[in-house]
Amino acid sequence: MTMTAPTEGMEAGRRNWPYDVEAIRADFPIFRQTVYGKPLTFLDTAASAQKPQAVLDVINRVYAEDYANIHRGVYYLSQKTTQAFEDARAKVQRLLNAASPSEIVFVRNGTEAINLVAQSWGRTFLKAGDEVILSRMEHHANIVPWQLLRDQIGIVIKVAPIDREGNFLIDEYSKLLTERTKLVAITHVSNSLGTVTPIAEIIRRAHDAGARVLVDGCQAAQHMAVDVQALDPDFYVITGHKLYGPSGIGALYAKAELLEAMPPYQGGGEMIHSVTFEKTEFAPPPQRFEAGTPHIVGAIGLGAAIDYMQAIGLDRIAAHEQAILAYAWERIREVPGLEIVGRAAHHAALISFVMDCAHPHDIGTILDREGIAVRAGHHCAQPVMDFFDVPATARASFGLYTTTGDVDRLIEALYKVRKIFA
Ligand code: ALA
Repeated sequence: MTMTAPTEGMEAGRRNWPYDVEAIRADFPIFRQTVYGKPLTFLDTAASAQKPQAVLDVINRVYAEDYANIHRGVYYLSQKTTQAFEDARAKVQRLLNAASPSEIVFVRNGTEAINLVAQSWGRTFLKAGDEVILSRMEHHANIVPWQLLRDQIGIVIKVAPIDREGNFLIDEYSKLLTERTKLVAITHVSNSLGTVTPIAEIIRRAHDAGARVLVDGCQAAQHMAVDVQALDPDFYVITGHKLYGPSGIGALYAKAELLEAMPPYQGGGEMIHSVTFEKTEFAPPPQRFEAGTPHIVGAIGLGAAIDYMQAIGLDRIAAHEQAILAYAWERIREVPGLEIVGRAAHHAALISFVMDCAHPHDIGTILDREGIAVRAGHHCAQPVMDFFDVPATARASFGLYTTTGDVDRLIEALYKVRKIFA
């Protein structure tokens, strides 16, 4: 049983299949290789997910058969590619349950989406003294754009705390909300700790205080169903390469009335209605925010990746990953001298850890020789590393294709690390 490109009508049937992780793995050509003569054990899906054949086929087919620039040509190929690009936007809309495809802006990645909000919405609607609340466990992509804006217009950044387990402290956060709070920008899932934040409650309390909310969903949308109409964020950010799609493509969801009021982020082709040397009239959203030729095939590939995930079912992916997480959590605690960093009650499919005998980079190097890929470092989240007083962690992260065998090989290799360094 191999999952190939889903077609209309097949999705419901696939959702009824048993979750056959070996069949799912067979959809990913990258797993056919060995590394240093060992089976590839890929435990770095939080950094970037591997791509199923269905996505690779769509990318190849578009370049081989359907490719032309979009929104410009009156000819057959251009119209076909334009349709595929806009279909991909509709797939992102459905993934997030946005009210309209015009609320979906294609961007390069999550980082660009947050910079877009900071520089377009933030620079227009915030002023000196306005407060933006972040959390202690944000990725640099959700810190630095706000610092740039602070240096440009004088906003004030406040930081919502976490506890020693990595839990978001919702009542401490509430204490930071004042009439000066204009934006809360918080991650849905921490990339470094795995914490799933109580995002619905964070949003509700921010709105009660009159603040807008940006949610960094780059580590969330691949692990769970996200419904922006139910959650009600003002902005929600995703990135394609963590959703089993291509790199270089991501999406910003923003409420229609916000996008309508926001000025362009970049100027150029695609985002205009008319241009003279005296004056330019901008296109309506989302094109207003998509200057230049976009990553056409990236967007279409992302659409195929969304089809692939939805054919399996986000709820079933979540259940599988939670089972793998529970298994890994139990097994990794057997390893002497290993400490898990980030033990929040609500946890996504990754484990960050340190060992008393070896630096995370040494752990990563030993694991690599066993064919095991983990990320070692500060995970672009230095403030949270400082909080836990560690320079770095090793991080094993799981996806829809992770098996208990992957976890067993990790544990065996961690014993080898102990043997070498302890
Ligand atoms: N943000 C990605 C990670 O957490 C790259 O590894």
